[in-house]
Amino acid sequence: MQTVRLGRTNAIVSAAGLGCGGHSRLGMAGGASAQEASRVVSAAIDLGITFIDTARLYGTEEAVGLGVKGRRGEVFISTKASPTGGGPGRDGELITPDALTESLEGSLKRLGTDHVDLFNLHGVTLPHYEACVETLLPELKRQQALGKIRHIGVTEAFGADTRHAMLARAMPEALFDVAMVGFNLLNPSARRTVFPQALAHDIGTLIMFAVRRALSNPEALRDTVAKLLASGEVVAGSVDPADPLKFLRDHLEIGSEVEAAYRFCRHEPGAHVILTGTGSIDHLKANIAAIHAPPLPPEISAKLEAIFGAVESVSGN
Ligand SMILES: NC(=O)c1ccc[n+]([C@@H]2O[C@H](COP(=O)([O-])OP(=O)(O)OC[C@H]3O[C@@H](n4cnc5c(N)ncnc54)[C@H](OP(=O)(O)O)[C@@H]3O)[C@@H](O)[C@H]2O)c1
Repeated sequence: MQTVRLGRTNAIVSAAGLGCGGHSRLGMAGGASAQEASRVVSAAIDLGITFIDTARLYGTEEAVGLGVKGRRGEVFISTKASPTGGGPGRDGELITPDALTESLEGSLKRLGTDHVDLFNLHGVTLPHYEACVETLLPELKRQQALGKIRHIGVTEAFGADTRHAMLARAMPEALFDVAMVGFNLLNPSARRTVFPQALAHDIGTLIMFAVRRALSNPEALRDTVAKLLASGEVVAGSVDPADPLKFLRDHLEIGSEVEAAYRFCRHEPGAHVILTGTGSIDHLKANIAAIHAPPLPPEISAKLEAIFGAVESVSGN
């Protein structure tokens, strides 16, 4: 398994990270039980994955707890609490520091551990950022001093914040050790706003949305590209709207769009852990192989940049 240093946390973790949220939630979104989902977690560890990302909101902490039982020392666990108690990017009042601690305690219990390696504020938006820093960050530091949290992170609400407005504010302040950022070959805008700051401040990065729907479902891809053609972010004539990424599949050194999507993320300077969310052990094996594969051929990288380099309005959700 290839490893990376997660910025100033100094943790050495697997370059491929198991994402326990997204549309699959370890298969639980499709009806798998926590016991069944825990098998994906143990398979991931058997395959060499040492980074696992979950969240209270995903409903997969219990499955992670079952999957890491007896192997806690082998893995770096990341979990989260939403500053508003709702899904990423939700409006509303901020939760209290006490409610945040309660959320952390619940996560520790479900995960079956006395500490998490990374605790993130989940899906923070720009309007909430300052209040999160003033009200919730001090509580997380208190929990860190108590040993319940090793490192503190922030995740963006990429589905709504495709231009990284929150991270554009947060990264230069560098108050968080780790940032989770949406990045993929359809919207590489983090390249301008987020990664240079991550490198400058030695902030660890976790890449989400590498594949999502648009890069794993042909219809979702066509819809996404149709929007980009309509907005003018992708220039008419530069892609075939019926099969926009055929040129990836046609290349002899690329197996599939999904493979290309993970390879694209892995070799981006400033990108550390590439999260892969799946309920399928076969997909997991293929995705680890893609994350371990060499950079995309230079002519393909150049073509992707020419077509999608200016995109910032879609997440690929
Ligand atoms: N704001 C936040 O904090 C936030 C938001 C979103 C996500 N996240 C984190 O980021 C992680 C990664 O995001 P994501 O789960 O959306 O992951 P992703 O890796 O971008 O996409 C996963 C989707 O692609 C499918 N897929 C995966 N491998 C495939 C393959 N080889 N062939 C075909 N389809 C494949 C999966 O379905 P199958 O189950 O069928 O494989 C799943 O629906 C999440 O799990 C979560 O931990 C955080």
